Amino acid sequence: MNIYDALTQDHQKVKDILQKLQSNSGEKTQEKLLATLKQELEIHSTFEEEVFYPAVAERQEAKEEIADAIDEHDEAMSLLEELEDMDGNSPEWAEQVKTLSDALNHHIEEEETEIFEMARETIDQQRATQMAKEYQQQKQERMKQSA
Ligand SMILES: [Fe+2]
Ligand SMILES: [Fe+2]
Repeated sequence: MNIYDALTQDHQKVKDILQKLQSNSGEKTQEKLLATLKQELEIHSTFEEEVFYPAVAERQEAKEEIADAIDEHDEAMSLLEELEDMDGNSPEWAEQVKTLSDALNHHIEEEETEIFEMARETIDQQRATQMAKEYQQQKQERMKQSA
């Protein structure tokens, strides 16, 4: 497993949750799904911003792309936090979930194409494997903390 596999796996998890959120599952389930999504995003984005992105941004050309990606993390998190305070039965809620879903799907796609491509030029295979290990470790620790 390298860092690309690990991040892609979690992207898939996020996409699944987003799909479930859009399938009218009842307010209790929605709340749970949102909470899971939030935890997933927090852990994932923090690792990207602290470890993965800085490695990619060693290349000057990548810096702008990385700054955009960080903005997208912030945007997704504010959309999600707004959702927590909204009425899960309202049309506004459904609209906002759609906005969040579009934003995250766009972000994930850019990450898996442009950012991963730039990353492969700065991060060698050994480091990519090491990074995946670090990521799994951090995830476990943070899950424990929030349990
Ligand atoms: Fe990601
Ligand atoms: Fe990201």
